[in-house]
Amino acid sequence: MSRPKVIVTRRWHPDVEAVLTERYDTQLNQDDHPMSVSELQDALRSADAVLPTVSDRVDAEVLGADNIRARILGSNGVGFNHIDLDAAKAAGLTVTNTPEVLTDCTADLAMTLLLTVARRAGEGERHLRNGEWTGWRPTHMMGTSVTGKTLGLIGMGRIARAVAARAAHGFNMKIIFHDPYPPKAEDIADLNATQCASPEEVFAQADFVSLHCPGGKDTYHLISTAALAAMKPSAFLINSARGDVIDEAALVQALANGEIAGAGLDVFEKEPAISADLVAMENVVLLPHLGSATMETRKAMGMRVVENIDAFFAGETPRDKLV
Ligand code: DGY
Repeated sequence: MSRPKVIVTRRWHPDVEAVLTERYDTQLNQDDHPMSVSELQDALRSADAVLPTVSDRVDAEVLGADNIRARILGSNGVGFNHIDLDAAKAAGLTVTNTPEVLTDCTADLAMTLLLTVARRAGEGERHLRNGEWTGWRPTHMMGTSVTGKTLGLIGMGRIARAVAARAAHGFNMKIIFHDPYPPKAEDIADLNATQCASPEEVFAQADFVSLHCPGGKDTYHLISTAALAAMKPSAFLINSARGDVIDEAALVQALANGEIAGAGLDVFEKEPAISADLVAMENVVLLPHLGSATMETRKAMGMRVVENIDAFFAGETPRDKLV
């Protein structure tokens, strides 16, 4: 029997590409270029499985291609707002993602953003590398203490809880959160976390607001001008979730007016395009969507996709089936 044809839209961890090549008739994206709409459509027409990543827009236009051969989209990432699930279902496609394996890695990155912006570490490094440092002095680059402060989480899923555990146990932070679908009591038992009835309650109390909700229409611009005005002027905003949760123009305005103290951002509204205003600000930390970017995690994510498509082609329900 011939092996299923698999198209991988970007370069993946080499060990995962090796496994895919061994098990399937695999087509890799050798030069790692972002695929256009017509390339994605051709992939859907010519392969049994297409393996996209969170930077491929698999929308209704892509999925509206005629003569689709593919039966599964094995997406490499936990977020799935880049895929139109309704259109995928209508096109007869199963869609899977990669939860769990990137939880700790992304939580580590959220803490990196929080610490870096609060302690002015990015700014300090630029200062030193630019040859501007003239020596220690009591008033030099005073940042904001993290230990003992209040961390407000918007969304209390796996990644938020992993951030809360680091903050509570490592930095003695007080944890507050809002989630329309709150976790079970036993899942937050060791966090001493207080549930807030609304995001506004979190905004008003938190010294650090960290976003952990999915992207998409339900959370689009949740961080608006009003939300930013509701935060303390001394507070910091951390985003390792999705760029479109923040109204970036409103954030630039709030930072420029001193309505909040700073921001740590790993994701952006129009990424990879970054607002020139943000780039010019010293009180923001900007990272290129590195949440899950470790060798170990990227391998685990890829292997989770392999597990999902293996199950699918064996006639089983993949563990991470979304539709
Ligand atoms: C995801 O998996 O959704 C991340 O944004 C990429 O690490």
